[in-house]
Amino acid sequence: MGLESSCDETGVGIVKNKEEILANEIYSQADLHEKYGGVVPEIASRDHVKKFSPLMEKALAEAGLTLNDIDLVGATYGPGLVGPLLVGLSLGKSLGYSLDVPFLGINHLEGHVFAHYSSHKSTPPFLALLVSGGHTALVLVEDWGKYRKLGTTRDDAAGEAFDKVGYMTGLGYPAGPKIDKLSQEGDPTAFNFPRPMLDEGLDFSFAGLKSAVARKVENETDFALPDLLASFQEAILETLVTKAIRGAKQTNVETISVMGGVSANSQLRERLTEKARTNGYTAEFPPLALCTDNGAMIAVTAAYKHLTHEEESPLSLGPRPSLGLG
Ligand code: KG4
Ligand code: ZN
Repeated sequence: MGLESSCDETGVGIVKNKEEILANEIYSQADLHEKYGGVVPEIASRDHVKKFSPLMEKALAEAGLTLNDIDLVGATYGPGLVGPLLVGLSLGKSLGYSLDVPFLGINHLEGHVFAHYSSHKSTPPFLALLVSGGHTALVLVEDWGKYRKLGTTRDDAAGEAFDKVGYMTGLGYPAGPKIDKLSQEGDPTAFNFPRPMLDEGLDFSFAGLKSAVARKVENETDFALPDLLASFQEAILETLVTKAIRGAKQTNVETISVMGGVSANSQLRERLTEKARTNGYTAEFPPLALCTDNGAMIAVTAAYKHLTHEEESPLSLGPRPSLGLG
């Protein structure tokens, strides 16, 4: 069983034999945080406390199991918000202890990478483009569990930029899916927003782009919202696609695997697939249910680590809000 509570999604996943997903129950608190324009940590922690129990029952029922059938427990221990992390981590440790089964603390970012383990598409080495609300990074996955960070964002994460632009245009939180949809009706060339650091290396920067959109929203009223959003999305996507192809060229991989909430973006899926193909690479995306935060990816990671390397975590393990990858 895998437990996820690093931010505003409560997730309980159950897997069999490392990667066969039997249940993946997710509860999103987005409605609770919408009016604040972002996640309020204290509200998030309290809601995780309420939701874990019913979600565990639902997941067990879906898998046709009882708690006594669970023989390994994994829980996210970082990165993320400390309060929400503590809720899932404490639950995971208590479950492991009370069921007398091994417990593993899982790195949330590694969990996103392992979304590709269960889909069987990507085999290391591959280039991971991790794009979520909290992180944007290019990582060389040399093997499952062996990572080399190649580039990261110097300021905002890609998903964070989507959410901030959504907030300033009144779309609520999280804005990624709404911008994805509205952009389909807009002209991506209507505004020429900056693509910071496009020609340099493998690091990212999205704060300047976000400010450019903010200036436009403050100073002009006479524009079609879908055009603005499509132009903003275009600037993000061009940056992500360009850097992913550059990273693939530098590392000699054959596959670019994308993961994290922004990997659900329909245009990113289309554009990177095409651009990778014309450059001789394959782009892989997880099924939509495994793109955003979920418990199944945590369960898969825990199962792999325990069954392949007999890994276990001590019950003294504490939350690590700034844990990285590679
Ligand atoms: O991986 P995730 O669920 O949580 C973190 O680990 O951060 O990612 C959430 C982020 C949010 O910023 C959300 O706006 C973005 O993923 N997102 C999208 C889409 N679906 C979710 N961004 C762009 N297009 C989407 N379709
Ligand atoms: Zn995530």
